[in-house]
Amino acid sequence: MSIPKESDVIGLEIDDQTSCTIHLFGATLISWICEGDELIFVSSKAKFDNKSAIRGGVPIVFPNFGPWSQGPQHGFARISRWLVEQFPQKDDCGNVSAVLSLEDSEETRAMWNNHRFKVTLTVTLSRRLLKMRLLVLNKGDSTMSFTCLLHTYFRLPDVSLASVSNLRGLSYIDKARKSEAFIEKHDPLRIDGFIDSIYQNTPNQHTISGLASGKTVNLEKVNLPDTVIWNPWEKALHMDDLGDDYMHMICVEAGNVSTAIELQPKITFEASQTLSII
Ligand code: BG6
Repeated sequence: MSIPKESDVIGLEIDDQTSCTIHLFGATLISWICEGDELIFVSSKAKFDNKSAIRGGVPIVFPNFGPWSQGPQHGFARISRWLVEQFPQKDDCGNVSAVLSLEDSEETRAMWNNHRFKVTLTVTLSRRLLKMRLLVLNKGDSTMSFTCLLHTYFRLPDVSLASVSNLRGLSYIDKARKSEAFIEKHDPLRIDGFIDSIYQNTPNQHTISGLASGKTVNLEKVNLPDTVIWNPWEKALHMDDLGDDYMHMICVEAGNVSTAIELQPKITFEASQTLSII
């Protein structure tokens, strides 16, 4: 098992039972410990080589969800090194925040229509809550078209005992079944095999149950109308950075991916997700 270098991560800590860790490569949140329990999954085979996307945590998908004709799958943000704008700081209420950012470079401009942008991620940790706020500023003079998503991997003792709420009645694109559209019949949704579904126009809130110590997490999202649920199941055995660890994860991904955001020059797009313990 490889571990991240100390110089590649920043840690936010409230006490020895409450902390989170962000890897600067991709601004990937790789740990959230709440009441002493780790709630975020990172594969034991994850690579911390600052080249490959980290298998687990909360990678930031930007400016493209999925395969991309202009660049890497899920965009370049998760495989770029972000800048620390604000090291972890405690406010008067005891919450700790850190701010990271990513701006266009020669490489991103060559890949992506010469766009000039700044993406800012603010992570705020409270005792039973973790908020991730994403801002995208279009610094250029032409409209920027993009999709984005917070690719959250939740850690579970056993995926087959987990469930996700608030999906019944929604239409979804099932990438595991030739990308055909279906209507979800289950509530809550349980995972018992390969799933890769893009639920559209989802409610602003889901619960994910079956985490460590029987915990349930409430996921609240703003300006992220889609929810992607992913677990590769046995396909993971052919992935060199996952393997049989797939039994201990579920991705519940809040995103804006069905329809691209058309961001006008000098305008900022804002979205967030807040995870809290019920
Ligand atoms: C999900 C996609 O968001 O991410 C899946 O819906 C994809 O299709 C998965 O397989 C993992 O992607 P990657 O690039 O991290 O292997």
